[in-house]
Amino acid sequence: MDRRWIHTVCYILALFLSVLLPSVSSLRIGAFNVRVFGKSKASKPDVMNTLSKIIRRYDIILIQEIRDSKGTAIQQLLDKVNRDSKTYSYGMIISDRVGRTNSKEQYAFFYRNKSADGIEIVSSYMYDDGNETLGNDVFEREPFLVKFHVKPAVVKTFALGAIHVKPEQAVEELTKLGDVFTDAKSKFKTENVIILGDLNADCSYVPKKDWPKIPVRNDPAYHWLIGDEVDTTVKDSTDCAYDRFILTGTKFYEAVIRKSALEVSDHYPIELELSVVMPTNFGSNQINFDDKPVSLLLLIVVGILGAIFLQRRHN
Ligand SMILES: *[C@@H]1O[C@H](CO)[C@@H](O)[C@H](O)[C@H]1NC(C)=O
Ligand SMILES: *[C@@H]1O[C@H](CO)[C@@H](O)[C@H](O)[C@H]1NC(C)=O
Repeated sequence: MDRRWIHTVCYILALFLSVLLPSVSSLRIGAFNVRVFGKSKASKPDVMNTLSKIIRRYDIILIQEIRDSKGTAIQQLLDKVNRDSKTYSYGMIISDRVGRTNSKEQYAFFYRNKSADGIEIVSSYMYDDGNETLGNDVFEREPFLVKFHVKPAVVKTFALGAIHVKPEQAVEELTKLGDVFTDAKSKFKTENVIILGDLNADCSYVPKKDWPKIPVRNDPAYHWLIGDEVDTTVKDSTDCAYDRFILTGTKFYEAVIRKSALEVSDHYPIELELSVVMPTNFGSNQINFDDKPVSLLLLIVVGILGAIFLQRRHN
């Protein structure tokens, strides 16, 4: 008799956990300025190992400061990641080469392209910020915008916009960032946009007196997920929150797991986590958050059964 009870309780507990657990998983997004990534870094096995390890921590990660003009270094990194990765394979989408001088950079997103995450790229474009030749362009390095669709995510459609702001013109560039959001929202037809990357948005590049000039900083529709107090720099001598996530979209903001946005360590990227609903062990059904009441009900059932069980043992 007792044994049957134990089985029942265990079964219900397992059922309960399987319903609860999906809400614990998340979609992890990172942004990483790898500092002058080219042939030299690609030729160092230690560096490549470390980068590969970092990248494989993420579902989607922005890599910045890709410098090599032939594009072989970043391909080597992608190959390395795919050789090292047991569970997932990674795909890449890479931007045009941007920058006003000969020292140009590319942005790339690595993303898990074959996994339960079901991450798909819908479309992408380079932000048109004016004509460089005529000198009326806004950004040193135009933002690169990518629209993603992630089937198991609570907010399934969203856009990520990569930018590496020019340090000496951080105030001017940040002041114009609202236009990039507006453009992305209208082109992608979504409210859910994150601009992410090395915004150089702190310390001497953005003195305190200049913050009031920056609309995306003062409009409450924009959420800055990495606070000013955070140090996203590697050097001990600097304590600056250069790397940031700026997010819009009410539902999207709610889907960000609280306190998940952080700098992982001095040598790591910044990251945030979005709520997802993963497939359970029971067939291919996806449990969604509407099932929370079911979890609660099961919790109550388990509680009652547990109480009965203990009572019986007592008698
Ligand atoms: C994922 O991307 C890699 C690298 O580009 C590619 O070789 C692979 O075929 C892709 N897999 C899927 C399922 O798209
Ligand atoms: C920028 O302006 C120059 C000079 O007028 C012109 O030759 C060039 O085609 C323009 N570029 C673009 C992308 O419109």
